[in-house]
Amino acid sequence: MSFKFEEYNVFKIPHSRMMQLVNSCNKNLDLTDFANSDALVSLLSNLNSIFDEFKSHEEIENEHIMTKLKTKLKAMAIYNSAVCNCHTEDEFTPLFKLVEMGYLYLNKTKSISEKISFGVKLRKALNHFTQKFIPHMKEEEEIFQPLLLEHFTEEELHEMKNIVIKLHMQN
Ligand code: FEO
Repeated sequence: MSFKFEEYNVFKIPHSRMMQLVNSCNKNLDLTDFANSDALVSLLSNLNSIFDEFKSHEEIENEHIMTKLKTKLKAMAIYNSAVCNCHTEDEFTPLFKLVEMGYLYLNKTKSISEKISFGVKLRKALNHFTQKFIPHMKEEEEIFQPLLLEHFTEEELHEMKNIVIKLHMQN
């Protein structure tokens, strides 16, 4: 069972990439001098790319995993609230808005204390996101993956995993 679990685990590889990105976000944020405009531009650009990847991860999961799982469960008249409520909240728009707002802090009229306050705001938003995102990925691996193993054939899971990984690599 554990071999099968690993071989057909559609979440594990993408989630290891997501964890790399979470760590990269945190590191970038910790090292940025918010009083330095060049450093802030570089941070905002990095965060924008990372948030794009987070969003794309969710879209790939929705299209190639969650929709298929929901359809399968529905056909068997099985209701699973975690599956039904997965990805219903928009976690990304507030993050993108914050990055957009960050560019306003490049303006010379902004004081250093205002720039530092923006850094604190960014840190809080990222902590809030991470505190939800990491347990969310755990839920996918510990609850959804066993459901996939239960309701999909090995061929279906193999194909699903290949598509999911291929699409993540196109980011
Ligand atoms: Fe794998 Fe929905 O994050």
